[in-house]
Amino acid sequence: MTATEPAATGRPSPKRLHVITWGCQMNVYDSGRMAEVLAPLGYAPAPQPDGADMVILNTCHIREKAAEKVFSELGRLRLLQRQREAEGGRMVLAVAGCVAQAEGAEILARAPFVDIVLGPQSYHRLPEMVARAARAGGAVVETAFPAESKFDFLPEQRSPGGVTAFLTIQEGCDKFCSFCVVPYTRGAEASRPAGAILAEARRLVAAGAREITLLGQNVNAWHGEGLDGRTWRLGRLIRAIAALPGLLRIRYTTSHPSDMDAELIAAHADIPALMPFLHLPVQSGSDRVLAAMNRRHAVADFRRIVDALRRARPDIALSSDFIVGHPGETAADFGDTLGLVEAVGFAQAFSFKYSPRPGTPAAGAPGAVPEAEKDARLQALQALLRAQQAAFNRGMEGLTLPVLVTGPGRRFGQIAGRSPYLQPVHLLGPATLAGAVVPVKIAAGNPNSLSGILATTPAWELACA
Ligand code: 5AD
Ligand code: SF4
Repeated sequence: MTATEPAATGRPSPKRLHVITWGCQMNVYDSGRMAEVLAPLGYAPAPQPDGADMVILNTCHIREKAAEKVFSELGRLRLLQRQREAEGGRMVLAVAGCVAQAEGAEILARAPFVDIVLGPQSYHRLPEMVARAARAGGAVVETAFPAESKFDFLPEQRSPGGVTAFLTIQEGCDKFCSFCVVPYTRGAEASRPAGAILAEARRLVAAGAREITLLGQNVNAWHGEGLDGRTWRLGRLIRAIAALPGLLRIRYTTSHPSDMDAELIAAHADIPALMPFLHLPVQSGSDRVLAAMNRRHAVADFRRIVDALRRARPDIALSSDFIVGHPGETAADFGDTLGLVEAVGFAQAFSFKYSPRPGTPAAGAPGAVPEAEKDARLQALQALLRAQQAAFNRGMEGLTLPVLVTGPGRRFGQIAGRSPYLQPVHLLGPATLAGAVVPVKIAAGNPNSLSGILATTPAWELACA
């Protein structure tokens, strides 16, 4: 009997589904939802692709390297697919996400053994596509932007989740930064209504979530119908979510500086559940480059927002994204980026070499920066950012932090958790603490994580005061 044959009970025996996810947290969320859509068809998660009945590659198109990885993975999977065929079985191969959206035709040309190609707006149609793929001779493709919202078609039931959960509230982007594929792959900005978001948040909490990260490509552009019939913006939504019993922590990502309004900044002052950590990409510290990037904000705007956030929540820690070597970026412009990093101070950050993406305005722009120069700039920036992160983590030593325990740690007797500033924390303790916020006295602030010991209540109260 193969795994796809009906079992003696008359119920289909589980089919094995392996999902490989690249890219942003939105893709992590999407992968989870795709698995949920397929569960009623009998697909259960498999940890390995070997012998799977279906493999989904949920892909990222943001930089060239990310897209190229898909093709090399497809080559590897083709061997497993052949092996499965030789054993009389079938492995359905699906490519989802932004590479599917942007390069559907190229995928089919380079990898004709792919059965399904589906863009990020179509994954509610997966069951139907799987059925079509079983009948079809060629590949089944869905990369149009459908008129309906996938959120109206996804099942309500969320699989039992972890202590931390993602919740997509907004998708797409209308900002059209010169370098970025997102407006083309994820489409126009669209926000889910507050009622649907609150209902999903309640289900997540019922399934065990204690921390929810609200997701959107431009999450702080969220605006939707509120519970009172008025249009709400993100600050108001966070207030409503924070009132849910059982939910301890809220985060949101990724934000754009020009959508940081006063209500959202005030939320950081008034809502204790809103964590004092914000990922706010700035991309460059040069006004000239920001203009060329079509970022719609200047360096001074970013500095003003950071100052306002720090006034609202003095302990707020910041993270950001940077691109070096955008067309036209001079050594002086890059120096301005280093200057901004020095002036602001980041707890953590991501930095990338500019990677031309086909179809984006910057891809054809003059003033390309030589690769070696991009490398040198990236190294210099990363050295500075690493030093800032290391200093930030070291600064936690001796403090008692409220840590949300997420589950068992890597070593025996260890548990893992996260600090308010999203640092991974390791400590000794019982796994039964998962889901609780406990006081942890930090003994070591390492470059990428913290370790500490469970502290006693009085110190905890002091830390939280
Ligand atoms: N090249 C390099 N980095 C890019 N990013 C987006 N597009 C590109 C590109 N073409 C970076 C930006 C963005 C992050 C998610 O990826 O910094 O904020
Ligand atoms: Fe891309 Fe972000 Fe710019 Fe939108 S705001 S185009 S997602 S970098």
